[in-house]
Amino acid sequence: MKKLTLFALATLVAACSPKSSDLPVYLDASKPLDERVEDALSRMTLEEKVAMTHAQSKFSSPGVPRLGIPELWHTDGPHGIRPEVLWDEWDQAGWTNDSCTAFPALVNLAATWDRELARLYGDCIGQEARYREKDILLGPGVNMGRTPLNGRTFEYMGEDPYLAAQLVVPYVQGVQANGVAACVKHFAVNNQETRRTATNSVVDDRTMYEIYLPAFKAAVDGGAWAIMGSYNLYNGQFNCHNKKLLCDILKDEWGFDGVVISDWGGCRDDDQAIVNGLDIEMGTWTNGLRGAASDSYQNYHLARPYLERLRDGRATEEVLNDKVRRILRTVFRTSMSGEVHYGSFTSPEHFAAARRIASDGLVLLKNDGALPLQVPEGGKILLVGENAYKMMVVGGGSSNLKTKYEVIPLDALREAFDGHAEVVWERGYVGDVTTVYNKVVTGQDLSESRSAEELTASAVTAAADADYVIFIGGLNKSKFQDNEGTDRLDITLPYGQDALIEALADVARKLVVVNISGSPVAMPWASRVNAIVQAWYGGSESGHALSDVLTGKVNPSGKLPFTMPLALSDGPLKSERQYPGIKEEGEQWWQEYYDEGVFIGYRWYDTKQIPVQYPFGHGLSYTTFEISQAALKGSGDKREVTALVKNTGSVPGAEVIQLYISDTEASVERPAKELKGFVKVFLAPGESRKIRIPFGKEALSFFDAEKHAWVAEPGEFHALLGTSSEDIRADLPFSLK
Ligand code: BGC
Repeated sequence: MKKLTLFALATLVAACSPKSSDLPVYLDASKPLDERVEDALSRMTLEEKVAMTHAQSKFSSPGVPRLGIPELWHTDGPHGIRPEVLWDEWDQAGWTNDSCTAFPALVNLAATWDRELARLYGDCIGQEARYREKDILLGPGVNMGRTPLNGRTFEYMGEDPYLAAQLVVPYVQGVQANGVAACVKHFAVNNQETRRTATNSVVDDRTMYEIYLPAFKAAVDGGAWAIMGSYNLYNGQFNCHNKKLLCDILKDEWGFDGVVISDWGGCRDDDQAIVNGLDIEMGTWTNGLRGAASDSYQNYHLARPYLERLRDGRATEEVLNDKVRRILRTVFRTSMSGEVHYGSFTSPEHFAAARRIASDGLVLLKNDGALPLQVPEGGKILLVGENAYKMMVVGGGSSNLKTKYEVIPLDALREAFDGHAEVVWERGYVGDVTTVYNKVVTGQDLSESRSAEELTASAVTAAADADYVIFIGGLNKSKFQDNEGTDRLDITLPYGQDALIEALADVARKLVVVNISGSPVAMPWASRVNAIVQAWYGGSESGHALSDVLTGKVNPSGKLPFTMPLALSDGPLKSERQYPGIKEEGEQWWQEYYDEGVFIGYRWYDTKQIPVQYPFGHGLSYTTFEISQAALKGSGDKREVTALVKNTGSVPGAEVIQLYISDTEASVERPAKELKGFVKVFLAPGESRKIRIPFGKEALSFFDAEKHAWVAEPGEFHALLGTSSEDIRADLPFSLK
């Protein structure tokens, strides 16, 4: 039976009864959460409790039918509501009403550097989840960009813990405002797809606390109701039942009172699953994705083996009760919260939000004045590249979506220039011809009979008389690209795109390159093209978002959430032991040593003074901004940087003012600077605004592993105000006494 109906029925019966105090406490939504939990728990049998701790289908876990407590429905993923699959199979259920709004990939959201858009994103996707009667949304993901090769970079929020922490909170709160739990994933140090279920991340505490944990902690402090354990090991223990991560840090140190859910099939051990902080075991079969009989839920670690241990005394009911309390809390926070949330699905507002987030996250990397496009009446725009045409909402793994519609760049630009200029498309190269991912069918035909030489020749010929050539290429969401389960093999553009861009540069009057990817790519041709736009998997409205920026309807304001390096070898991961890990004599698992410590992303390039293609935080605009009157006030734990920002150009626009802190003398090696604040200001032409960025001691601190505490050492610091990690406009020195 439908869960809302059940609860509504119980409430109705109670409301009609003469004495509402007859209502059992757990059904009375006006009672405090923990009273409801204790009341429900006291009515449950051992078997009912154990049933709640493991899956009953691919995406649901049981409730207590006898008590009218509904099951929990889980859904991927971070970018939209996954199409319905069968109860016990990964095949599509074949519904015709599950085509969602596809929101931009999380990396695109991160590139907006906009907390309000993160809230809007969370709110919209929460509404879609609620409409589809989902209680737990499996996202967002906040693993850090340690290597540009990570196949899931597109599903995360960049390489900086502060940026991710600032955006994850409004996303989570937006989702949860709809009575849907956000399940923040993948906890933790799950920074690669290569051998993700067999790699032990060896990371020191300082690096954990400074880089890999802050976004999760922020989500917990911000009220996240669920956390997903990751597939990998840390400290020699699988993370879905990792004592240090789940018991010591998450639950004890941070006081997390929500539910810990395993990644699908990530639970690997009967005993550890019981005692090490896992609350619900979900899965693709069981035993670490290794396959089993159909309907194997009774064989799950937290199913029959758990019951046996409880019955013969090897497991205690006290530990079980803690799990069940957390699960009940989740039910009472979501479908039994007493608040009515209907949700909404594929509404015009959701598509408008998707378009806005997508366009506000587009990053103008370079522009010599070629953008926005100024195409003469009757002119010709030539689009070259598979990504001008290929649908990208599908693919990528568990974040694969079935959307109601997807606007491709070619159609959006034709629409924008309809009646004004001709928009012609040349494929240029063949990338990925897949049109069916996880059994979701795009309906496109991507087959190609021409050779690579023919495709290049045809594009180059067509480029000669075009007013603009816009190359739209990059990566896609197939294997070894931006894809769950496989990492990329290199950061160079695949399918011969570099050579094609060079060939176009030889003939084009004006050449604009749009790189659609979810992770960094090398751009050896950057100096030969007029403009470069970094675009992402923008969801249903991706084509419109791109044309909005190319035509100037939207002034770009996105900033890179990760460094765009010149070459992979410039980065911090130099050895196999760092990436992708090594298997030592007699070891069962691959060991991966985070020898680079806290020096990932710009922390590495900056400190080692290694030039990059485009720095973290970089992104241009069609207008110009002036930052003046930068000043620093306050002392001790309460300081504030202020400045006047003025739009000195002729169009409205937004700038992200970034505060980096540099600690010049410290007892440990510290990054040259670290992001500790930012504000995004929208200004009309000629308008100025005073901005304030407050910061306290935490912005000056490093994590002292021995003391297990954050330490701000007295000495000299600099507050650096800039528009990227390289473009610093004001240097304000200060000292901590
Ligand atoms: C992924 C998770 C996802 C889960 C359910 C796993 O393979 O790692 O991110 O939520 O599947 O589809």
